[in-house]
Amino acid sequence: MQTLIKPIDESSLIEAAKIINEGGIVGMPTETVYGLAGSGLNPLAVKNIFAVKGRPSDNPLICHVHKDFDIESLVYIRYDYVKKLIEAFTPGPLTLVMESKGVVCREAVCGGETLAVRIPAHTGCQKFLKAVNLPIVAPSANLSKHTSPVTAQHVYEDLNGKIPLILDGGKCSGGIESTVLDVTGEVPRILRAGLITKEMIIKVVGDCQVAMHREGDKVKSPGVKYKHYRPKCETALFESEDIEGVKRAYKEALDSGKVPYVMCANSYVEAFKGMNLLLLGSTEEEIASNLYDKLLEGEKKASIIIAVAMPNELGVNMGIMNRLKKSCG
Ligand code: TXA
Ligand code: MG
Repeated sequence: MQTLIKPIDESSLIEAAKIINEGGIVGMPTETVYGLAGSGLNPLAVKNIFAVKGRPSDNPLICHVHKDFDIESLVYIRYDYVKKLIEAFTPGPLTLVMESKGVVCREAVCGGETLAVRIPAHTGCQKFLKAVNLPIVAPSANLSKHTSPVTAQHVYEDLNGKIPLILDGGKCSGGIESTVLDVTGEVPRILRAGLITKEMIIKVVGDCQVAMHREGDKVKSPGVKYKHYRPKCETALFESEDIEGVKRAYKEALDSGKVPYVMCANSYVEAFKGMNLLLLGSTEEEIASNLYDKLLEGEKKASIIIAVAMPNELGVNMGIMNRLKKSCG
């Protein structure tokens, strides 16, 4: 199969909608990462998504809808605070896990009772979702375990020959996946950290928990138990203050004939002068936005990416550190 990359316009939207309506799957942009989209009403489309990605069969998909879609046709909203969250953060990088009404097929939720719903803010994605007017299930459009794609080209590199069309909506501005929030209980609970932070949720709702994963715990968001986001080269992760450790690892790599690159915030430019760098930016938002792009650039140039951790796990850093530990730790 030939995989085409097309800008989002009237004709590519008609083509994408036709593919989806016939049970096919396409690459779509969102403001976080690119998704691999199919109809949530079609079990065959869903099976195809799992097959193309090589995704474990017990890891449910997020359902994407346009901003005027009646989400109460898909899920029960049990608490008033959920409406406040929808008002405050959608369209945007927030996914809400709610009790499913069973409209989206069992295959998409792996037989579970809940459905994760997200209303993406990306304008091209909104146009696509309007054009199909269906609940669209989509995981990130990478091969399972690999780094998530933030450009149409990244999707092409992982899925070329396996899907007919990738809608090109430019580079994703957010850069890390949505915050996954369990809102089936009295207090919202973060299952996966992202750009909508615990602090932001507390401001709106007054309280927010973070799911901790201990060995042997029953995992509530199945995706978090798998190896994830890994670039194809070797990696290492150092504490934010361990400048000497980074320099030592860099020298050891050079001495053994490897090509090392240090991936770090712009504030380290002086400390790592003369070394190969993958610079992530200055603010937390910039760093999140560039993280996967730099990992995917790094895997092409480097034999080892030596990553420097964030100084804390507050705000957006919680989501960045979650990805850094899994990709490079
Ligand atoms: O930003 C995003 O969320 C991107 C874009 C494409 O929307 N999507 C994404 O999908 O990251 P994926 O499949 O790579 O990650 C979905 C995460 C997984 O950790 C999965 O376990 C969790 O959401 N999830 C999905 N449905 C769930 C459910 N019903 N209950 C708990 N966790 C769920
Ligand atoms: Mg993913």
